[in-house]
Amino acid sequence: MGHAIAVALFLHLLGVAVWVGGMIFAHFCLRPALEDLSPQLRLPLIESVFGRFFNWVGVSVIVILLTGGFLLMQSGGEHATWQLHAMAGLGVLMMLIFGHIRFAVFPRIRRAVQAQKWPDGARAVGTVRRLVVINLVLGIVTIGVAVLARGF
Ligand code: HEM
Repeated sequence: MGHAIAVALFLHLLGVAVWVGGMIFAHFCLRPALEDLSPQLRLPLIESVFGRFFNWVGVSVIVILLTGGFLLMQSGGEHATWQLHAMAGLGVLMMLIFGHIRFAVFPRIRRAVQAQKWPDGARAVGTVRRLVVINLVLGIVTIGVAVLARGF
């Protein structure tokens, strides 16, 4: 394997680890731990945690896209296997869902926290939760498809 390909694969997998690992932590550790807090405490905390996490995901998405695009070109571009095209398709779908979370739903949480409209904030957090579950499932499927790309 050439150095450039090894570095790209390393960064690609690092981005995937940050994104998918962060979603596992948010959904299975943070969310249940905050469940019993009052909205006045919970929502500002969620807003500040999400604000930071989404920056990490934003960087990961750019890294995954650039390295994935490079690796795909190295693997034959349009002649690459269907598994690699499936990974790219699922990856882009996950990125669109993330974009919706970050730029459509998250601002609603921000506004609700600023205006102390707790029910509005809780609704928007519920939307994020559902979309994160979808992206988590897609992420795990994508990792499975990536393994299949090895030709087992
Ligand atoms: C923009 C979208 C993406 C593109 C174009 C892309 C493309 C690629 C390519 C070409 C490889 C190298 C495969 C090889 O040579 O064996 C690769 C590896 C990998 N990708 Fe992606 N990828 C994308 C998104 C994702 C996402 C979102 C995930 C997981 C959530 C993911 C998980 C993996 C894994 C686990 C490998 C390592 C596979 C192995 O070496 O066996 N990729 N990707």
